Amino acid sequence: MKIATTGSALREILKECPGPRILVPTMGAFHPGHLSLMQRAREIAGTSGTVMVSIFVNPIQFDRPNDLAAYPAPIDSDLAVCEAYGVDLVFSPAADAMYFPDRSVTVTENLLSRDLCGATRPGHFDGVCTVVLKLFLLSGCEVAIFGEKDFQQLAIIRRMVRDLDVPVEIISSPTVREVDGLAMSSRNARLTPEHRADAPRIHQALIHAASLTTPAEILSSARVAIECSPFARIDYLSLVDAETLQVVTALDRPSVLATAVFYGDVRLIDHLQIPKVSPP
Ligand code: PAJ
Repeated sequence: MKIATTGSALREILKECPGPRILVPTMGAFHPGHLSLMQRAREIAGTSGTVMVSIFVNPIQFDRPNDLAAYPAPIDSDLAVCEAYGVDLVFSPAADAMYFPDRSVTVTENLLSRDLCGATRPGHFDGVCTVVLKLFLLSGCEVAIFGEKDFQQLAIIRRMVRDLDVPVEIISSPTVREVDGLAMSSRNARLTPEHRADAPRIHQALIHAASLTTPAEILSSARVAIECSPFARIDYLSLVDAETLQVVTALDRPSVLATAVFYGDVRLIDHLQIPKVSPP
């Protein structure tokens, strides 16, 4: 496995890497959700293609300094995991290798990023789009893999690729969950034992609500089920169009029930697809 820590070193190594080149962008601190993306990348690359993983805790997508400071960075064990999973190339730059101190160009998405996580995380998706586009350009990948877990991020990246004619195919991979249903996330490790025991209620609440028939019933059922918790505090709970992410008032097209919930200062996100329900 090769490791590059600067863009120019990456370009040099890539001269000898055969296609197809598949990129898995990450911020490290791997859990089985990340590993599923690496496995999918290998399936697509085949034995002769190149699987690349980027590990970069992107400072410009953090809106809360505490969140950035608390973000785990176990680089040695992450590299060992990449090696064990047959990754060909890891790109792991320092922040000053990615951004000029006087950088002045940012990629901004203006519709899908306004609500949900975008409403309370100013600048977050600009930071994500900017780093993802840079990673695409640096790696020259033909395919990039993203988790459905961050469904707003996935929709925004698809939109960026569409609107800017970025020649990268975006492939999504299903959310990997703990046995009790909690979506895997690097932030789960920061939950207290009581909060960790309570947090599976988020997924259960979404599943139960999604079985109901009207948007009003769905939203109120999920809200009540989450707010029953003595610990959980809802940041948002919304029913939105699966593609445009705009709020829906009828279940006449594929939609998504999405939520972000605080446990203390740890913010967990989850969502559930609601397939199109034909009007009676
Ligand atoms: P990070 O949170 O490290 O996630 C890297 C990738 O893993 C993302 O595509 C994310 O959706 C996926 N992922 C996370 N948890 C998952 C789970 N439980 N099941 C399946 N996939 C999961 O997302 C980012 O990093 C950053 O915003 C990034 C795109 C790298 C840009 O900095």
